[in-house]
Amino acid sequence: MILFVTGTDTGVGKTFITALLAKAMADQGIDVKVQKWVSTGNSNLSEDCVFIYELLGNKSDETIHGFQGTTGSDTAPYCLSFPASPHLASEKAGVTIKTKVIRDALFRLESSCEILIVEGVGGVLVPLTRAMLLVDLVADLKLPTLVVARSGLGTLNHTLLTLEALRYRKIPIVGVLLNSQGGEASSIVRDNQRTIAEIGQVEVFGVLPRVKSPLNALSSITPMADRILSVLKDLEHFLGTDYLDEIEK
Ligand SMILES: Nc1ncnc2c1ncn2[C@@H]1O[C@H](COP(=O)(O)OP(=O)(O)OP(=O)(O)O)[C@@H](O)[C@H]1O
Ligand SMILES: [Mg+2]
Repeated sequence: MILFVTGTDTGVGKTFITALLAKAMADQGIDVKVQKWVSTGNSNLSEDCVFIYELLGNKSDETIHGFQGTTGSDTAPYCLSFPASPHLASEKAGVTIKTKVIRDALFRLESSCEILIVEGVGGVLVPLTRAMLLVDLVADLKLPTLVVARSGLGTLNHTLLTLEALRYRKIPIVGVLLNSQGGEASSIVRDNQRTIAEIGQVEVFGVLPRVKSPLNALSSITPMADRILSVLKDLEHFLGTDYLDEIEK
């Protein structure tokens, strides 16, 4: 199974939530791996993958070697030093981002674990290349997608636009998880949950609190991870259990 985690924007908490979801699943004995297709602002290892694997407590050589190469590692196929959108960072590095490289890495990793969580890059309409948006690859691969959004003021427009872009491309939507930046008015957060669910026609799994240390949010995310897994299983059933095999061909 694959879960694609996108965000309404860069810095919204995709890595933080991917790490905690992976940890909550790993703590239940699920063999979980993560992937980041394109990391920018990192020259030879994906800081997002390092953050996630450190939280998982997995510092084995095998894991580290899995993402320490510049290109060719399945966990982080493209690590580019210029901190910008993948299309520009790859141009600066003289690298051509190839979807085949990403697809092959995705399916190799997917077949080596029970659940693969793929962290997106920025928001859905970020260009991977000048000819392809991130969301177009997600659509080609029909990846069930979770949207991470801010919980406070300003999230409605971004979240509803993201959902619209996913629906337009018939991408299976898992739901929305709100992440607190700290200090939001609780009445706004409550109404955002309701409004996104009603107008966006999606499940909102909850609001992750702002915490000092990621593990302090583990008890909050565990029930959300359980629910996400159950939605993912239903979606897989709906899409047909062999849909990934078909896409792979
Ligand atoms: N609930 C939270 N509590 C405390 N800190 C958080 C929380 N969510 C995110 N952060 C912190 O906010 C910052 C941005 O989050 P994160 O790196 O997960 O965003 P992102 O969406 O993955 O960004 P990018 O687009 O660069 O990959 C990080 O320093 C992260 O540790
Ligand atoms: Mg990130």
